[in-house]
Amino acid sequence: MKTLGEFIIDRQGEYPGATGELSALFAALRLASQVVHREINKAGLADITGAADLENVQGEQQQKLDIYANDKFKVALAARGVVCGLASEEEERFIRFDEGLNPDAKYVVLIDPLDGSTNIDVNVSVGTVFSVYKRVTPFGQPISERDFLQRGRDQVAAGYVIYGSSTMMVYSTGNGVNGFTYDPSLGVFCLSHKNMRLPKSGNIYSVNEGNYVHFPNGVKKYIKYCQVEDEATNRPYTSRYIGSLIADFHRNLLKGGIYLYPTSSRYPDGKLRLLYECNPIAFLAEQAGGKAIGDRQQRILDIEPRAIHERSPLFVGSVDMIVKLEEFLEGGQ
Ligand code: AHG
Ligand code: MN
Ligand code: MN
Repeated sequence: MKTLGEFIIDRQGEYPGATGELSALFAALRLASQVVHREINKAGLADITGAADLENVQGEQQQKLDIYANDKFKVALAARGVVCGLASEEEERFIRFDEGLNPDAKYVVLIDPLDGSTNIDVNVSVGTVFSVYKRVTPFGQPISERDFLQRGRDQVAAGYVIYGSSTMMVYSTGNGVNGFTYDPSLGVFCLSHKNMRLPKSGNIYSVNEGNYVHFPNGVKKYIKYCQVEDEATNRPYTSRYIGSLIADFHRNLLKGGIYLYPTSSRYPDGKLRLLYECNPIAFLAEQAGGKAIGDRQQRILDIEPRAIHERSPLFVGSVDMIVKLEEFLEGGQ
């Protein structure tokens, strides 16, 4: 049995010149996720479910646990001395830790502290998803927005925690993807899914079909293709949609499948946020042998971000399925 802490220290040896700062950052993420796990698991008992009567910067109603999780990750990441700034779904502007607290820290973190948070009240899986970059602002200068507006391909690390039937952390530092299952009785994450690979093909498609009539033609045609019977290609595919990106991606990562969040009339740019939802998921997908593209078939990780909370359509999953989707996107706009 190997714990997440041991695994990180083992891996550190593979990076010449490693200083242990990234390990400290992961220790912070690990600790905060343990606290959030504890809170989520008693969500039906304590008065912590439901809406908080507040809206975030994107006009979305914040759940009490959105705010709770945001606070825990913020405090944990500020405390280790290795993070100079944080951008979060729940914060309008990025938060500086470089003033006084961590002036020489080299990492910035972008985070969705609680993904799928409206699912908590109905006891369905939620997640935390994060992305880590090196700062681009020279040490000694105040960090700025450009430290956060980096392309996904420049991520140093990315990962998620899924609070499901068990809690797991899945992450990559650009050298494959590994998954760790939390043992609450021991208080440790243990390596349970070594070198995760996204199956080259699959038979699950995940999309909010309630928005179907508003989807671009190519996407509509692809969904119809998924539903047509064809023995040779194992169709019709199975439809699975939880409504928590992390849980939907996690299932497809293990079983093979495609996740689609296209543009629609309600969300003309798609719903998911590029920097702290699409990019970390795309990084993990590619690291596991999968593929992630936007609606113009551009690689998600190559998109030049313009704003911290910008949105992007996302198509991610098994390579063969994304390649098939591309045929429809080309033909069907
Ligand atoms: P969040 O709870 O962080 O705002 O994210 C919700 C996201 C994502 O988790 C999920 O895949 C998607 O919203 C579901 O959207 P629809 O309800 O439109 O399908
Ligand atoms: Mn989210
Ligand atoms: Mn969220």
